[in-house]
Amino acid sequence: MNQIRKAVFPVAGLGSRFLPATKAQPKEMLPIVDKPLIQYAVEEAVAAGITDLVFITGRNKRAIEDHFDKAFELEAELEAHNKQALLEVVRNVIPKNVNCIYIRQPAPLGLGHAVLCARPIVGNEPFAVLLADDFMDTADGVAPVLAQMTQQYEFERASLLAVQDVPRENTRQYGIVSASPYRDRLELAAGIVEKPAPDKAPSTLAVVGRYVLSARIFEFLEQLGTGAGGEIQLTDGIAALLKHERVLAYRYDGQRYDCGSKLGYLKAMVAMGLKHPETGPDFAAYVAGVQAGGGK
Ligand code: UTP
Repeated sequence: MNQIRKAVFPVAGLGSRFLPATKAQPKEMLPIVDKPLIQYAVEEAVAAGITDLVFITGRNKRAIEDHFDKAFELEAELEAHNKQALLEVVRNVIPKNVNCIYIRQPAPLGLGHAVLCARPIVGNEPFAVLLADDFMDTADGVAPVLAQMTQQYEFERASLLAVQDVPRENTRQYGIVSASPYRDRLELAAGIVEKPAPDKAPSTLAVVGRYVLSARIFEFLEQLGTGAGGEIQLTDGIAALLKHERVLAYRYDGQRYDCGSKLGYLKAMVAMGLKHPETGPDFAAYVAGVQAGGGK
């Protein structure tokens, strides 16, 4: 049986790197081709066997709640016009056996604080955290990244951080782990620091937006004061946790796109535009034309 049943989606950030698009809507509602980032993340969680989705929302939460809610008027319109295929798309945004729970983060006090807001729902169970703006693509036949991690969890029974190697000049954008080899794709974390300068970073192993965490993290998050940037950092909670429990860094099999940044978002759009059954062939021809200097 899958032990990880609950996933937390912190979606209360300000998304300031994407203004003005994020002035009145969360960045997690930005689409990659035709699907919002948050829906991709939810599908990844559901594919990993998660049944309870806990959204930590902020001041501009409405669009996310509405997206996962029933859309009566829209469904009636589509039905009246006999648009069955679109009706299925709208109805199948979320499977019926999955619960959506919304908790409001009173102020954007940091990712650690957002995760702590989920404590009353998560309780004492291990749980997943997904940052939807880290868009994860996997090759055909490869399990989605969170499913890879929950499989590892079943064997290891330890907290897991998705990691990738980054160029040293970029360490300031990530939580950076110091770790020792453990077994294939896994390293044993010995320490973690938030956004270190390149010359101070203990390694180039960067944490990206997928976690499986022991509920003990809540104890440590509660004790924390504000860290880097005046926020309660999840990284600081993990730094405390790994002094008491095993925490593993997992080198996932997949391609991450940082959709919190404009360039990462554009790259994800191109990658998925090329893969999409509706747009793929024509878009590929267009991209080839652009590369050749035409671009029609
Ligand atoms: P980011 O560091 O990407 O911050 O947060 P942000 O505010 O969303 O975006 P920028 O930097 O202003 O452009 C990482 C994740 O943590 C969530 C965000 O929604 C994002 O998924 N978060 C961050 C919260 O839920 N609450 C917070 O207080 C801070």
